[in-house]
Amino acid sequence: MALVDATGLTRTYHLGGEVVAALRGIDLTIEQGEFVALLGRSGSGKSTLLNLLGGLDQPTGGSIRVGGVELAKMSKRELSLYRRTTVGFIFQSFNLVTSQRAWENVALPLVFQGLSRVERRKRAQELLERVGLENRANHVPSELSGGEQQRVAIARSLVNDPKLLLCDEPTGNLDTSTSAQIMDLLLESHRAGTTLVMVTHDPALAEKHAQRTLRMADGQFLVEASARS
Ligand SMILES: Nc1ncnc2c1ncn2[C@@H]1O[C@H](COP(=O)(O)OP(=O)(O)O)[C@@H](O)[C@H]1O
Ligand SMILES: [Mg+2]
Repeated sequence: MALVDATGLTRTYHLGGEVVAALRGIDLTIEQGEFVALLGRSGSGKSTLLNLLGGLDQPTGGSIRVGGVELAKMSKRELSLYRRTTVGFIFQSFNLVTSQRAWENVALPLVFQGLSRVERRKRAQELLERVGLENRANHVPSELSGGEQQRVAIARSLVNDPKLLLCDEPTGNLDTSTSAQIMDLLLESHRAGTTLVMVTHDPALAEKHAQRTLRMADGQFLVEASARS
């Protein structure tokens, strides 16, 4: 069974009398363990699609099944569990909590699991080690470089062992060598079995690393550009 099976996905925004069709009937199947890259100009609907897959937003039409379960049929509670445990999110702008230390940011998704502070701290430290930031646990985001902040964000996204990692231009704010480090971490997680969907503006990056590249324009997929396995 595919991990993700989306059919006829639409997302329409109503903005002061204006109607914006951000997604116009998308069909998408993603196999367990796949690495799919999403390319497309700004405004083509890439973030909208990721947000729907991650349960951060609801489609206006169509259906999304993840692991055979229809997201629209989940209760609020199930959906919030889905966002916290099945999915990991990485954003271009890191989205860390500025007042919290690196380890506290990493531990945030654990807060509802009934772990003690000591246990959360231990788990966060393991993840910080995995991204090479064991010495930055007590720093707040403003005391970290962009690349370090993104590594904290990756550690946070992996802390619950998500099946599906959704990355929205994860290297968009980083220089080339820092981007390569971030890609290495994402690839390591992919090798360990995580299914990866990554939005990027860099066709070369997609070509080099992804098993499949999908191009979006105006809320739809263009004919598949490349596929290899
Ligand atoms: N919250 C929103 N309200 C209204 N329109 C939106 C909203 N979010 C996105 N859009 C519109 O939907 C379209 C797709 O946006 P988005 O998914 O962010 O594109 P991308 O990530 O490819 O740049 C754009 O035309 C954008 O302006
Ligand atoms: Mg976007």
